[in-house]
Amino acid sequence: MIRSLRGRLFAGLTAIILLTGLVGGLFAYHWAFDEAIEMQDSVLIQIAGLVLSGSLTGGRELRGVDKDAEVWLIDQASEDDANLWSLKDGLALATRQGRPIRVLLRTRPDGTRFAVAQRTSVRDEIASDMAFRTVLPIAALIPCLLLVTAIVIARSLRPMVRLAGDLDRRRADDMTPLPAEQMPSELHPFVASINGLLQREHLLMNQQRRLVADAAHELRTPITALSLQVENLDPVDLSQSARDRVATLRQGIGRTRHLLDQLLSLARQDAGQDDTTTMSVVKLDEIAREVVAGLLPEAANRGIDLGFARLEPAWIRGEAVMLAALARNLLDNALRFTPRGGRIDAWVYRDSGAAILQIEDSGPGVAPEEISRIFEPFFRGQRPEGDGVGLGLSIVKRIVDRLGGSIEAVNVADDGCTGLRVLVRLPAVAA
Ligand SMILES: Nc1ncnc2c1ncn2[C@@H]1O[C@H](COP(=O)(O)OP(=O)(O)OP(=O)(O)O)[C@@H](O)[C@H]1O
Ligand SMILES: [Mg+2]
Repeated sequence: MIRSLRGRLFAGLTAIILLTGLVGGLFAYHWAFDEAIEMQDSVLIQIAGLVLSGSLTGGRELRGVDKDAEVWLIDQASEDDANLWSLKDGLALATRQGRPIRVLLRTRPDGTRFAVAQRTSVRDEIASDMAFRTVLPIAALIPCLLLVTAIVIARSLRPMVRLAGDLDRRRADDMTPLPAEQMPSELHPFVASINGLLQREHLLMNQQRRLVADAAHELRTPITALSLQVENLDPVDLSQSARDRVATLRQGIGRTRHLLDQLLSLARQDAGQDDTTTMSVVKLDEIAREVVAGLLPEAANRGIDLGFARLEPAWIRGEAVMLAALARNLLDNALRFTPRGGRIDAWVYRDSGAAILQIEDSGPGVAPEEISRIFEPFFRGQRPEGDGVGLGLSIVKRIVDRLGGSIEAVNVADDGCTGLRVLVRLPAVAA
């Protein structure tokens, strides 16, 4: 059982073409064969006519008529074959020197008889030769037809293959409907069903995002209240062990706040629309400079040298908050993973129509088998550091996607130095 539609179509059409070709060929062969035999009979009749009119005399082999036709003219006077002369005037089958022949007998006005004869095997050979030549074009046509059929099938099924390719290449969260108008009408119900499914998926995804955002938002108030309560414990005279526990509690609350903030930030990016044309033009270099400035105290605290290696004006379309979130998440990672005494360099510059933001640290970098997964939500790798929840780079990725840019993270390794280099490329606008 052939499973592919293309295979089935091709097998079916091949069978039809071969069958039609075979039946048609057989008929054409027989028809042409009979025609050729009749034609040779009429040649015998014409020769007999010539003899009767006196233009030809008997006893000769008439090779001149057709070189290979082997037609003889036999006179009763020169060849006394009782078998032959017992036949009546007209066309007949007979034998001559033990071989079957086709013969036409005639009687001249003076009563003498003659025969025009031709060996049957020669006649058959000539006829089958001619019949074969009639069938030849049909036989040659069959491979051409098969080729054309294969091409037509492949072309007709191409929209389906293209549709599957389009679906395969889609981002998991891309819910734009498939274009039905470019598809053959047979595929319209199928495309409509997929679009319906995409729409339901979209709705469900939005509901879930809203649920996450609402939950994160609702949880912020009690968490803020909790951290206030913990702050209130500061002036209270507590034993050392109680202080230790309060410190752990504060850390836990801080982590939860960070998780809620990241969740909210991600939900906001997910809910935001992707149309950058309505966004205002902002200066990427200024935003990056502000974020770096805000993180300088923390960097100094950790003994890390944070600064710009290059800072050039670069205008892009976007929202200042989302770009600040992007830069902060990248720098936050760099700060977290870079050991004391290390350095973090930032670059902002323009490169052929793109605005580039690049952050490079001197930390350990990411394990090669993990680097493809760091943009997944909640992925934190084998050696999670500090209070991260694994959402930072998902937020960054989402922002870059919304702005129509691209991001890549590579490990740097030269002269024994390690680190991670993250390069964000965003569409720049002219100043
Ligand atoms: N600069 C870096 N150096 C080494 N590893 C990194 C660096 N940046 C990211 N990673 C790896 O990628 C993982 C994912 O990073 P991401 O920013 O998404 O999450 P996180 O920093 O753990 O948590 P969050 O940013 O939500 O607080 C990190 O846990 C870490 O394993
Ligand atoms: Mg992070």
